[in-house]
Amino acid sequence: MRNNSSHAMFPSATHDEQALQNYIKSLRVHSTRGFHTGNKSLLKSKIEPELRRKSGNRMPSRKDVREALSKEEHNKWWSAMVRTTQEMLYDSVGPSIERQLPALVTKAKKLRGKRGTLTLDDRIATPPYLAAVDMHCKPGSYQQQLSDDDVFPGAEFDRTFRLYSMGGLGPNLDDGGRTLINWVKAKFPNLKPKRILDLGCTVGHSTLPYCDAFGKNVEVHAIDTAAPCLRYGHARAVAMGKEVHFRQADAEDLPFADGHFDLIVSHALMHETSTKAIRGIYKEAYRLLAPGGVMAHIDGITPHNLYEKYYSEWMSHYNNEPYLGTVQDEDFDGILAQAGFAKAKSFVDQTEPNLKPRAQDDKPVVTYIVVAGQK
Ligand SMILES: C[S@@+](CC[C@H](N)C(=O)[O-])C[C@H]1O[C@@H](n2cnc3c(N)ncnc32)[C@H](O)[C@@H]1O
Repeated sequence: MRNNSSHAMFPSATHDEQALQNYIKSLRVHSTRGFHTGNKSLLKSKIEPELRRKSGNRMPSRKDVREALSKEEHNKWWSAMVRTTQEMLYDSVGPSIERQLPALVTKAKKLRGKRGTLTLDDRIATPPYLAAVDMHCKPGSYQQQLSDDDVFPGAEFDRTFRLYSMGGLGPNLDDGGRTLINWVKAKFPNLKPKRILDLGCTVGHSTLPYCDAFGKNVEVHAIDTAAPCLRYGHARAVAMGKEVHFRQADAEDLPFADGHFDLIVSHALMHETSTKAIRGIYKEAYRLLAPGGVMAHIDGITPHNLYEKYYSEWMSHYNNEPYLGTVQDEDFDGILAQAGFAKAKSFVDQTEPNLKPRAQDDKPVVTYIVVAGQK
């Protein structure tokens, strides 16, 4: 696994905490890679042929596959292991962050004001679809604050996401950003953005590559509704020598003037917003784009692959990711059109990760969907 590059904000781990976290990562590799293959062969050799026979050879729906697989013994074991590992992930990291939280809060405060900006606004409400669950079993989700100036959810995300992604997102967990940058450059070679906005940035993992991707003098902005993630993200960016303007704001209603940005992006935001919010977010992005500007959203879903579709469906039911099922059925062409993008300038694409596999436990497990439009 590629090690996380160290930065001054990254939470430390004692020998025993690290050993436990390594164990969880290995268990996750085993349950989501090795154990997955049993599910895949059940789907291919038994479930899919049976469902197709019953339905006149139609592509099975995600619900039918979930219901049929859930009756299989292997699937029950696999399902219990993946869910338990997810809970253990947070159980193994949370106490370690709590132990060092006062020091992390102090560090973040000291880094404030050194580079970029952090603008918080306590009038911004957590969207109801985020407040309703502990997203992917993360206790308190992205937004829960236990103290003044809290950075817990951000610090916890930085460490757990590293274990969760099993090395597949690179040392700085930024391969979503790098992959989308590659896609945008290939599709719009003449785009020279001067102002870039990242929506739903969490701690800015995918945001930072934009600081260098399009040359000098580019302003990079990043918004999220979760204040403690933004506090941590801003301090992390400063610690990594990057200038980003972080702001607490709702992607459906942003405090920027019409036409302010040349490039608006998001990474893994679509599957964590409601079907209603996706529509609002695309409309707001259209308002904020300058003529010729580009909006591009990337997400780790592969709706054309029946197994990947099942796995996302499983996560929406058993991993507290309520929209990971429905997002796969979205009519993205329709949503782009409703937001104002012309058909000829709307794109729904599937793309490979930027990062190429190096070792068995390093292998990226997803391809990405990209939904984009040019104004
Ligand atoms: C999966 S995380 C995104 C990860 C991040 N973009 C990255 O690449 O590391 C989803 C984020 O979207 C944020 N979010 C969801 N709905 C939002 C909204 N309407 N406005 C702003 N942020 C939102 C959540 O708070 C969360 O931090």
